[in-house]
Amino acid sequence: MEMAWPYEMCSIIGYRGPGVASETIVRGLKKMEYRGYDSVGIATLSGELIQIRKGVGRVSDVNASMKLDTLPGRVGIGHTRWATHGGVTAANAHPHCSSSGRLSIVHNGIIDNYLEIKERLMEKGYYFKSQTDSEVIANLLQMNYDLTGDVKDAMLKTVSELAGTYAFIAMFHNGILAAARYNEPLIVGVGKDCHFISSDVLGFVSQVSDAVFLRDGEIAILDSDLSLYDFEGNPVQQTVIKLAKNLLAVEKGEYAHFTLKEIFEQPSTIVGTDQGGPEFDMLSLYLKHAKNLYITGSGTSYNAALVGSYLLRKYASIRAEPLVASETPFLPLHFDRQSVLLALSQSGESADVLKAVNIATKGGARIVSIVNVPTSTLVRESSVSIGLNCGPEIGVAATKSFTSQLSTLYRLAEKLSSDADFRDFDKIPQSISEILFSSFEIRKIAHELRNVSDIYVLGRGIHYPIAIEGALKIKEITYIHAEGISGGELKHGPLAMMHDGVYAILINPGDSTFVDTLAGANEIKARGAKIIGISDKPNLIYDRWIKIPSVPEVFYPLVEVVPFQLLAYYAAVERNADPDYPRNLAKCVTVK
Ligand code: F6R
Repeated sequence: MEMAWPYEMCSIIGYRGPGVASETIVRGLKKMEYRGYDSVGIATLSGELIQIRKGVGRVSDVNASMKLDTLPGRVGIGHTRWATHGGVTAANAHPHCSSSGRLSIVHNGIIDNYLEIKERLMEKGYYFKSQTDSEVIANLLQMNYDLTGDVKDAMLKTVSELAGTYAFIAMFHNGILAAARYNEPLIVGVGKDCHFISSDVLGFVSQVSDAVFLRDGEIAILDSDLSLYDFEGNPVQQTVIKLAKNLLAVEKGEYAHFTLKEIFEQPSTIVGTDQGGPEFDMLSLYLKHAKNLYITGSGTSYNAALVGSYLLRKYASIRAEPLVASETPFLPLHFDRQSVLLALSQSGESADVLKAVNIATKGGARIVSIVNVPTSTLVRESSVSIGLNCGPEIGVAATKSFTSQLSTLYRLAEKLSSDADFRDFDKIPQSISEILFSSFEIRKIAHELRNVSDIYVLGRGIHYPIAIEGALKIKEITYIHAEGISGGELKHGPLAMMHDGVYAILINPGDSTFVDTLAGANEIKARGAKIIGISDKPNLIYDRWIKIPSVPEVFYPLVEVVPFQLLAYYAAVERNADPDYPRNLAKCVTVK
């Protein structure tokens, strides 16, 4: 059976202006590379002729071999495609042209009813060159344009026939760009004499600083001007937003990779979070008065939610139930007008998190959030949002955004507590710097880990979320199997896996968990596995010791996560894996 590749995480971009469209688009696609992709393509319009070039691989490689940026024309569209399963081929890469070649499209999302539309179009003589769902948009739009003779009417008719999620841009042979948004991000960049439209502001922020964010169910038409309509065809007012200057800070400077740069930025980024402003005060109040409080996120952001839940319970006596965002549709949760959902997200675009927000909102709950990307959908869907302010995180693995999430959660717990004394927080940047300073020692251990196939990470109490986060960092960028285990669970199963060649990393600072965690170490050692201790104290049982500074127990998560980030980074480099662009992962998971 013919299959569309149902999960795509892509970047799309369109440009219309006085510049050479292909050069501008390739530049924009390079800036969005961090989102993850496997193939790339662009289309430009010269006269009334649409020309397309596309191929499999990195933007720079495909550009070097196919000279994408030499296509002529002042209007164009571009795309990076990311498929988690199914064929990665030039034919499946976007843009896709309609059968007549008079329009082409780029699409991000999934068209659920593409087979039914495709059959209908094929009966009418339209043909298809790819296996993607996206190609149906090109032919459907072409059919509707031929019927109505009008771009706006054709777009309205097309979106009324599509089911699924999408952001797409269409380039018509007359030079008009039209785009629609439904559950995928889409932003128009507005310059003096040019327009961009893209899934990410990074696609154009180096060229223009004003942006208009489309909402779900809106259409944009870019002629010499920008017009916005809802899916009923009513004009929509445009709200222009000035983009923050720090979005431009996306060079890796002297660092070999963005991931390393972002790890090293942490002593300064953890103190840059929004705190003490009116949003911070309002968000604290919502947490304090919530009858049911849930704290959600995906991946690393969920691990931050686990720490947040611990801090709020322990220091502010607030029960915040941690919730894996993707589980929200399947759990018996209680969302009503007295409930609050605190959503954590670096990107503010994770589909699972937005789905949790959607479910909670429908139940009447208030949404509050902690987000890094201030222009994201999550921020717009929240009653109040606090910014992480840690600058763009380009490396796919979340590093500095995690420690900034933690630091915001510490500040909230402190504000909501009557007696917590978090003054020592001010010393944490120095403690992180000390670990970074000794990164060459961690690099030696990473070298030793390069051929290991299984790593188990153990931690108890407040260290358990870091055990999970540490294991996530290792597996996602080194591809070594790694598992985070609550220290006490060792004897309930995982001990069976301890043998020669296996490594166990113990998070074992000298605090209330120290003695119990050490007891587990003896059992591991007795079975031949090697032990790496992350601790402020040496111990003979450790085969390798990663020294961390002594800090008050509550702050260890902020400090002890850093060795994992460095271990994962250096082991990835040792294994010839690109830490910035791990396989099968995207920075922004905008599909379910
Ligand atoms: C892990 C990682 C992912 C993200 C997750 C949520 O290093 O990057 O697990 O944490 O996809 O992303 P955000 O925080 O953007 O919602």
